[in-house]
Amino acid sequence: MKIDSLDILLEEELKDIYSAEKQLLKALPKMAEKASSDELRTAFEEHLTVTEGQVTRLEEVFEVLGKTAKAKTCKAMEGLIEEATELMEEDADDAVMDAGLIAAAQKVEHYEIASYGTVRTWANLCGKEDAAELLQETLDEEAEADQKLTELAESLVNPAAEEGHEEQEEKDEIEPGEEQPSLRGER
Ligand SMILES: [Fe+2]
Repeated sequence: MKIDSLDILLEEELKDIYSAEKQLLKALPKMAEKASSDELRTAFEEHLTVTEGQVTRLEEVFEVLGKTAKAKTCKAMEGLIEEATELMEEDADDAVMDAGLIAAAQKVEHYEIASYGTVRTWANLCGKEDAAELLQETLDEEAEADQKLTELAESLVNPAAEEGHEEQEEKDEIEPGEEQPSLRGER
């Protein structure tokens, strides 16, 4: 297919995001199940509900553009979810797993923020203000989700995940005359 206008590129990008959101609908319940912190689990569950709304909103966007809602496999989201899945298969302490889950979720959010920012701008450039407004709504929700994850990472997960790190710091205090230990292998 030849992409010879911004309208077509916009439609293609919307198909990509539509696929991305649908993939996320399947991944979020698994991430919620794997979370140990109640707050993190709730955040994932809430974002699942928000994501369902975003899928519906994307269908509205296709409609106002006079297009049929269609997904085209988003390979980037496939990769991000694959990495999250690999992480979830690891044997990790609860708090460390939660920190990893937050990181995986934030990568997803940042990808979505980039995509929605792009399609919102293209919609405006194409004179499709209705679509742009809808896309801005989702963009705001994604930014909010990202912020929430940052707060969780800072408040909840990291101090516990750093327990091992504190022990390391103690080890790093060197007695006079003692040789500086190599950092290799001590992470
Ligand atoms: Fe989303």
